[in-house]
Amino acid sequence: MINLSLNIQTVLAGLSMGLFVYYVIKRIRYRFPPGPWCIPLMGHYKIYTSFDIPKKVEELSKEYGPVVRLSFGPQSWIFLNNNDVVIEALIKRKADFAGRPHFTSGDVFTEGGKDIALSTYSPTWKFHRKIAGKALRHYLQGDLLENMIQDNMEEFLNKMAQEKEPFIFKTYADLMVFHQLYTICFGEKRPIDDQEVKDFLKLENDFIEFFGTGLLEDIVPYLKDIYPTAKWKKLIRMTDEILHVLRTKFKQHVDTFKPDFNRDFIDSLLMARQEAENEGDESAMEKLEDTYLIQTLSNIFLAGVDTTRFTMDWFVYFMTRFPEIQTKCQEEIDRVIGSRHPSMKDRNNLDYTEACLFETLRLGNVTGLGVPHMTICDTQVGGYDIPKGTTVIINLRALHRDTKYWKDPEKFDPYRFLDEKSKMKTVKPESWLPFSAGRRVCLGETVAKPELLLMCVNLLQRFDLRLPDGVQPNPEYKAIEFAVEIPSDYKIIVKERIRN
Ligand code: HEM
Repeated sequence: MINLSLNIQTVLAGLSMGLFVYYVIKRIRYRFPPGPWCIPLMGHYKIYTSFDIPKKVEELSKEYGPVVRLSFGPQSWIFLNNNDVVIEALIKRKADFAGRPHFTSGDVFTEGGKDIALSTYSPTWKFHRKIAGKALRHYLQGDLLENMIQDNMEEFLNKMAQEKEPFIFKTYADLMVFHQLYTICFGEKRPIDDQEVKDFLKLENDFIEFFGTGLLEDIVPYLKDIYPTAKWKKLIRMTDEILHVLRTKFKQHVDTFKPDFNRDFIDSLLMARQEAENEGDESAMEKLEDTYLIQTLSNIFLAGVDTTRFTMDWFVYFMTRFPEIQTKCQEEIDRVIGSRHPSMKDRNNLDYTEACLFETLRLGNVTGLGVPHMTICDTQVGGYDIPKGTTVIINLRALHRDTKYWKDPEKFDPYRFLDEKSKMKTVKPESWLPFSAGRRVCLGETVAKPELLLMCVNLLQRFDLRLPDGVQPNPEYKAIEFAVEIPSDYKIIVKERIRN
């Protein structure tokens, strides 16, 4: 008995010694980024269970420098908190940081990593990104996007004009953007009070609300096989519901597809498949089977919806908070456009309004901590060693509030984006990366910017947006969905403008 316990003690002591030596050698060989102490295996649970992760990490970076290491459960994650290290990682280090970490929950939603946004850097990812980019460019040709937004906005603005009581603008922003994506992706123009669109929007909102705080299975993956949480089971159910809608739309398109007539984004994907088939390209055909294309569709729809509707919500929030800035936009819109419909061609002359949109993208943190990256090889950033397979988070909030680049960063000031002639600066300001950068830069940036500007212009051309009488601006915001920030619900009133 004594011998046995001695043996166990010896083995344990040996193991601990071995681990200690391994740890010391690793420490000496590699220069890892610094970070605060945490409870082993549990990690910095106070940070990852908080909604204010970007702000908390931003504070830590004042103590530890721009590259901060934090533990999420048993995993170590790296947070990049200033422009220099982000540009080094995403641009100068080429594809080193272009991977995506594997998330157990992501696997469910992407049917095993068959999408673009969450799948890691690989030839298949590159191929799908290229196909999706080509399909999106289709909408920037001619006046297709413009006409679609115009039609859509007109109906929503007419409905807003009928509001007699103060109302929450967010509900309009949600529906406007959802209807737009319905047209881009499915080629459908539905009535603005259409129940199918409302149901899909509700499903999406419930999904964000429910899973915004993350899942235990992402930190302890084997839990799903031995004792799945109720949240995990709900994830499976809701994913099925969302994918069912997308699969049905996709199937309807396959059944009615005509190779020489492109109705929408799904048709563009089917055309790419047709091309590969005509060329007898077997390997491309494999990557273009239904599941992959439905996953691409899901990315475009969901990545496009949330970011755009939250940005619209922030824009109206700032316009009602600073009516004098709103008036300046309206003066510009009246001067450049007058009472005709706004067009994409006006964009070059709407500098002040566009600067307000860019400032909205800086201050409203609509992508939270972006989409996590992963190193695909051993690499370095900011002078620290980052091993292959490390999860890396880009703290866009920290970049957008860095006092080195932004004087008085909490102030809403569109002039930051204008030159001395009040034209948009030709060079993008440093430390402004709402769409990120490098290999993984937002795929929808070229659609999102004109789409958002046209929506903002339509809104301000027609209405004065105000807070109800006696209501003070509410400076609070709430965080949802992996640290995405949106304004706390606020009500507005709209007054038709009288223009000359
Ligand atoms: C205000 C609007 C938008 C903002 C601020 C935004 C921002 C972002 C950011 C920060 C990322 C992560 C980039 C990275 O991993 O470093 C991203 C990825 C992505 N976005 Fe956007 N986005 C917007 C609108 C859109 C729209 C309208 C679409 C589609 C039509 C779209 C499609 C995508 C896709 C597919 C990805 C994944 C790219 C990849 O992993 O390769 N986004 N976006």
